[in-house]
Amino acid sequence: MAEVILNNVRKNYDPAIHQDTLRDINLNIANGEFIVFVGPSGCGKSTLLRMIAGLEDITSGELKIGGNYMNDVPPVDRNVGMVFQSYALYPHMDLRENMNFGLKLKKLDKKTIDERVDHASDILGLTPLLDRKPKELSGGQRQRVAIGRCIVQQPSVFLFDEPLSNLDAALRVKMRIEIAKLHKELNSTIIYVTHDQVEAMTLADKIVVLSPLNPDAPTNLEQFGEPLELYHNPANKFVAGFIGSPKMNFLAGELVEKGDKTSRIRLYTGDEIVAAVDTSSAQVGDKVELGCRPEHLVEVGHAHADCQITGTVQVTEHLGSESYVYMDVDGNDFTFKARPEFPAEAGQELKVGLPTDACYLFDKDGVAFPRTAKYNKD
Ligand SMILES: Nc1ncnc2c1ncn2[C@@H]1O[C@H](COP(=O)(O)OP(=O)(O)O)[C@@H](O)[C@H]1O
Ligand SMILES: [Mg+2]
Repeated sequence: MAEVILNNVRKNYDPAIHQDTLRDINLNIANGEFIVFVGPSGCGKSTLLRMIAGLEDITSGELKIGGNYMNDVPPVDRNVGMVFQSYALYPHMDLRENMNFGLKLKKLDKKTIDERVDHASDILGLTPLLDRKPKELSGGQRQRVAIGRCIVQQPSVFLFDEPLSNLDAALRVKMRIEIAKLHKELNSTIIYVTHDQVEAMTLADKIVVLSPLNPDAPTNLEQFGEPLELYHNPANKFVAGFIGSPKMNFLAGELVEKGDKTSRIRLYTGDEIVAAVDTSSAQVGDKVELGCRPEHLVEVGHAHADCQITGTVQVTEHLGSESYVYMDVDGNDFTFKARPEFPAEAGQELKVGLPTDACYLFDKDGVAFPRTAKYNKD
């Protein structure tokens, strides 16, 4: 177990192009924390993980693991274990041999090797399968062997790069729960990469949200915090749009009345909204963007329908437990999560209720204004 610290870490694959992939990454990961790196494809998640593993150079900045400066330490001496998306098991070896192979290379004694393999197999539910070959296993079982091979090394930090993305949806959910249990058992520091925000929300103690680096931006680390903190208080529009499913709705407008508890916004749709946000730092007339989550919208007439948004229904999905109404609001896509069998016909005009306490607000640069309430639907 170890803490991991990154100070001003930068990655530039090709100095000739002056194009950074990662810039000014500062992270303080405590001993035993489960950290998830999340962000769209190509934003540099794997690069950051591989720099911690020692598989990629750090262009500038500092990496410390367990208090030791690691920038120039070769991967084998960092005591980190990595599990990749595509896990290559040795096809001619059985599971026990696949797991103990690395330990034999390290010339550990047989008793220690057997103890570690037995313990890892036990945790991962692989004990009855130890004399099988990889081809006799399901995808989920093979992925568990790849994790087992990592556990037996007893690394101080586990690094996972999208380990579940090759599995089908049902197995992914099952393995997600297995990995959460594993973290409880091992109590080790885990850094886990995924582009799936649901995986991030459910597994992480803290989430690191990365965005594709805008060349003019000081950093592409958008926010580092607990899952629900990111959901309730996203630092900016990027995080707000990335965390939450279905995605947050955004509508542009301008500030017509500023305040430190509530603020009034006139949307370009013509609708006026009162939002529980602190805009004391802004000016009346400033361009702003309102955000609201599909699950926080209510029917007109509901006790929390403080304001209204008007749009045209495009498609309605009935999922049994809930309905999703996809609307066009003055040229913007807009989603309303409604009750089961909510009647909404394509082409029909629909008004939905927006609670004041459920509003998010962003300035013209996408920076969030502080929210002054937390919405509770019931
Ligand atoms: N070895 C490499 N050489 C040059 N560019 C690379 C290399 N590996 C990745 N990149 C680039 O760095 C960016 C981030 O890649 P990556 O870390 O794989 O993103 P992610 O894991 O978030 O999808 C991408 O634009 C990718 O093309
Ligand atoms: Mg990747």
